[in-house]
Order: sequence, then C-alpha cells, then structure tokens
Amino acid sequence: MSLIACGGSTEPTKGQTADITQDPAYQKGFALVKQSDCLTCHQVDAKGIGPSYKEIAQQYSNAGPDQLSSVAQKIITGGAGVWGQIPMTAHPSLSPDDAKAMLDYILLLK
Ligand code: HEC
Repeated sequence: MSLIACGGSTEPTKGQTADITQDPAYQKGFALVKQSDCLTCHQVDAKGIGPSYKEIAQQYSNAGPDQLSSVAQKIITGGAGVWGQIPMTAHPSLSPDDAKAMLDYILLLK
C-alpha cells in the first residue's frame, strides 16, 4: 500500500503509469458497463463469448474518431464479423452518449 505515484511529476506524461481507476472517463464508463449486461460476455483480460476489453482497446488504440463512433454505434446495434461469427446482442435502449462513454472506458484498459 503506497500512495507514492510513479515518476513524481505533477504533470502526467505520455507513457506514465497512472491509476486509470481515478480517471472520470473510467468511472463513468465502468458504472454504465456494470449496469448493463456487457460483463456476461466480456471480461477485461480474458476472452469470453466476446473479445476481452483489453483486446478491443489494443485493436482500436490508433483508431480515428469516425471509426470509434462506428464501434460505439455497434454496441447499440449489435452484430458480428469483426472478431468472429458470434454476434453481439443489440442494446437499443442505450443512448449514443452512453455507448461512447462505455467505449471510452474500454479503450482505457489497454
Ligand atoms: C451476448 C454477448 C454480448 C454482450 C451482452 C455484449 N457483447 Fe460486446 N461483443 C460480443 C461479441 C461476440 C463481439 C464480437 C463481435 C464481432 O465479431 O463483430 C463483441 C464486440 C464488442 C465490441 C467491439 C466491436 C467491434 O466492432 O470491434 C465492443 C466495443 C463491445 N462488444 C462492447 C460491449 C458493451 C459495452 C456491452 C454492454 C452494453 C457489450 N459489448 C455486451 C458479445 C457481447
């Protein structure tokens, strides 16, 4: 149990290990993911029915905004074909903002 952060710089620099659980984007997205059924098919580190969140984060780490909004949209519409033939179920009650917040959380997990 140490409260000493890596680096010691007050300004977070790229590549520095920060505690992502303190990131508001992590907290918001994770809360939404927990409320929904995502975790029945996805785990952070291991493949379940769906790909692990870590794999998804790595896959889209260099994606542009257009690609990311279509991935967020896919959480709403569901579908297959990117990772395999098993489809993700649709989540039609999610708003685009919530889907984006969930994806932002997933992308932090790389
Ligand atoms: C019934 C199981 C299931 C549930 C529930 C589920 N997923 Fe998925 N998810 C999958 C599968 C299977 C894939 C791979 C789809 C493919 O190959 O295109 C996937 C893919 C994804 C992807 C990557 C999409 C892509 O095109 O690369 C994201 C992001 C994602 N899921 C997020 C979520 C979130 C957020 C939730 C909760 C709202 C959720 N999933 C709920 C099964 C599920």
